[in-house]
Amino acid sequence: MSNIDYSSKIPNNVNLQEDRTLQRALEGWLPNYLDWWQDMGPSGSHGFDVYLRTATSTTPDGWATFGHVKMPDYRWGIFLAAQEADRKVNFGEHKGEAVWQDVPGEHRANLRRIIVTQGDTEPASVEQQRHLGNTAPSQYDLRNLFQVNVEEGRHLWAMVYLLHKHFGRDGREEAEALLERRSGDADNPRILGAFNEETPDWLAFFMFTYFTDRDGKFQLNALAESGFDPLARTTRFMLTEEAHHMFVGESGVSRVIQRTCQVMKETGIEDPAELRKKGVIDLPTIQRYLNFHYSVTIDLFGADQSSNAAIFYSSGLKGRYEETKRSDDHLLKGDGYKILEVKDGALVEKEVPMLNALNEVLRDDFIKDSAGGVMRWNKVIEKAGLSFRLTLPHKAFNRHIGTFAGIRVSPDGRAISEAEWALNVNDWLATEDDRAFVASLMGRVVETGKYANWIAPPAIGINKQPVDFEYIRFN
Ligand SMILES: [Fe+2]
Ligand SMILES: [Fe+2]
Repeated sequence: MSNIDYSSKIPNNVNLQEDRTLQRALEGWLPNYLDWWQDMGPSGSHGFDVYLRTATSTTPDGWATFGHVKMPDYRWGIFLAAQEADRKVNFGEHKGEAVWQDVPGEHRANLRRIIVTQGDTEPASVEQQRHLGNTAPSQYDLRNLFQVNVEEGRHLWAMVYLLHKHFGRDGREEAEALLERRSGDADNPRILGAFNEETPDWLAFFMFTYFTDRDGKFQLNALAESGFDPLARTTRFMLTEEAHHMFVGESGVSRVIQRTCQVMKETGIEDPAELRKKGVIDLPTIQRYLNFHYSVTIDLFGADQSSNAAIFYSSGLKGRYEETKRSDDHLLKGDGYKILEVKDGALVEKEVPMLNALNEVLRDDFIKDSAGGVMRWNKVIEKAGLSFRLTLPHKAFNRHIGTFAGIRVSPDGRAISEAEWALNVNDWLATEDDRAFVASLMGRVVETGKYANWIAPPAIGINKQPVDFEYIRFN
């Protein structure tokens, strides 16, 4: 079961050949997917041979092989983690019952919505990142971008498989619509806000893969707990791929910081304007990018109080992060949770029923997890003997969804006036000028073993290859 059949048109470990109708339906979707990839996948990349990993089995140890492949020939497919014998629903009203192998009728609409919302983010990020290859800082980074892109494409396959297999005609229609929406399109945008923002430069890409792919990690973890077993199994395997995306983000930002600190030490320059003349990204600009990507990403968790979140949980569709490691009753009926609200011009805590606050619970887990990378980035600065420190802004800062939508809060968590916001916003969020400066650094560096001036080379290469390995053959 864990081994993947690569002999059929659509690689899979779900015995696709035994269900001819489903196989035909997915083979019908395949050319539309490839058309989408040609149009909206990484621009100008279709002739390159890229050193990519491809899944070969879904066991934790031996799931990847590495080799040069042309991306349009990448073997996208359907890979589910192995079925757990006698798995039970672990939370909500169905707790203790056997998990569902088919969609329960009463939860059909909600499950479809969850799957479509997750599925929509996958092609969206490929669209957001499609021009970045033109300004890659190295072959190594270009390869990482492409690896992320092909895997987001596969994550779309994962959700489309569930839609085709379990949701009949409307599932097939949703699968088509996933190829029709476009990130940032005024008429037919992607479903969630952060997936309609641009990812115009590589600092934005690294922040996106650190923060926004981490939102993916938490959503997928919550779905990996689902009582709908096929969803749990497919998201469990997706998580193994997601880890690399966050690595690309964390190490990318870290290398930018490392290079900046190196130049600061060599030259003794601390003034951002002077540093920019040396062709590196000053630390305050990195902080402003961080503030933007972090705040936009935490909006993805949804409103702090949500009856939908309560329904998804109580009906066993979407659990909490590490649900089964928690020691409460997994029903949460009488439990409370503290959220924030603005009262008399100040942020104050208020206790609400936990079931309604599950978006906030997941957001808070994300926030804790995000802090780790920031701490490691600060270690790089500290090691260089510099006093600057990066911080995560307060969770009420720059929010557009939930209680804080429309309320101005400073990065240190004070409710402030519109006037104070306007006076300071250019110090808090990346400005046009910041973005123009970062864009000015984005020249294409793709000679084997060369790295752009604004970023340090990685400590080691992919799959333990050297940093000057030929990751891409441009042909
Ligand atoms: Fe993904
Ligand atoms: Fe991802």
